[in-house]
Amino acid sequence: MSILSLRNISRSFGSLKALSDISMEIENGELRALIGPNGAGKTTLFNLVSGFFPPSEGEILFEEHSIKGMPPEKLVQRGMIRTFQVTEIFNDLTVYQNIEIAMETALGLNLRPWLSRSRRREVAREVEAMLETVNLADQARQVAGALAHGDQRLVEIAMVLSRDPRLLLLDEPTAGMGDEETHRMTELIRHLHRERGIAMLFIEHDMNIIFDVADRITVLDNGLLLAEGTPSDISGNADVQAAYLGTEA
Ligand SMILES: Nc1ncnc2c1ncn2[C@@H]1O[C@H](COP(=O)(O)OP(=O)(O)O)[C@@H](O)[C@H]1O
Ligand SMILES: [Mg+2]
Repeated sequence: MSILSLRNISRSFGSLKALSDISMEIENGELRALIGPNGAGKTTLFNLVSGFFPPSEGEILFEEHSIKGMPPEKLVQRGMIRTFQVTEIFNDLTVYQNIEIAMETALGLNLRPWLSRSRRREVAREVEAMLETVNLADQARQVAGALAHGDQRLVEIAMVLSRDPRLLLLDEPTAGMGDEETHRMTELIRHLHRERGIAMLFIEHDMNIIFDVADRITVLDNGLLLAEGTPSDISGNADVQAAYLGTEA
C-alpha cells in the first residue's frame, strides 16, 4: 500500500512555477530520498505534503485518504510529521524537558493541570526510552541550546518520534554536520527504517548518504520530476548526471 501519493501536483508562486505536474508514490516503510539542485522545489514539495500550504493543482493522499485542506497538526495526529531545514527545539530547556514536552503533547497530557503519579512514571519511562533510541541519554540534563548542532538535531528527531509517526519528512537532516554527526544521524535513520518500519522521505545533498541509505531516489529539477529509481538507476541516468551529479563533481 502507498503511504503517500502525489497526483499531478503543481504549485505556483505568482508567475513562478515551483512544481509542475508531479506524481509520485511512497510505499509503506519505504526510505526515499528527494534530491535536486537548489531551487528545484524540494522544500515546496514538503510544504505541500505537510499541509503548510495547498497545491495549486492536484491531489495528495496519505494512507489513501485525501489530505486536502488539512492543517499540519491534524496530519501529525494522523501519523505524518516533518522536520525543518533549521532545527526547532526549546533552547533554554534541557534535553529531557524537550522530549518530555513532546511526549506529554503526544499523550494528550499537556492540557491537564496535574498528572497522577503513575502517569508521571509512564511519561518518564517513555522519555528515558526515547533518550536511548536517539543516543542522548548522557546529555539528558544538559540545556539543549548548549549542545553540538548534531545533538540538537537528534533532540528534534526525538521530539518528532514522540508523536509516533508512520511517515517522517526530513528536510536536510545532516545539513551542517561533521562526519561523525552525519554518521550518527544516518545510523538513526537506518534504525528507524529497519526496526520501526517508519517510512521516510528525506531531502539530502550528500550523494554518499543517499546512495548508501535510500531504497529509491526521486530527482527534481526546476520544478519537474526528472527521474526516479533505485540508487543504481539514478547513478546511471544521463539526465541526472547532466542536471545534478555533474554540478557536484
Ligand atoms: N513561499 C514562497 N514564496 C515565493 N517563492 C517561493 C516560496 N517558496 C519557494 N519559492 C520558490 O520556489 C522555488 C523552489 O524553492 P524550494 O522549494 O525552496 O527549492 P529547494 O528546496 O529545492 O531548494 C524557488 O525558486 C523559490 O524561490
Ligand atoms: Mg530546500
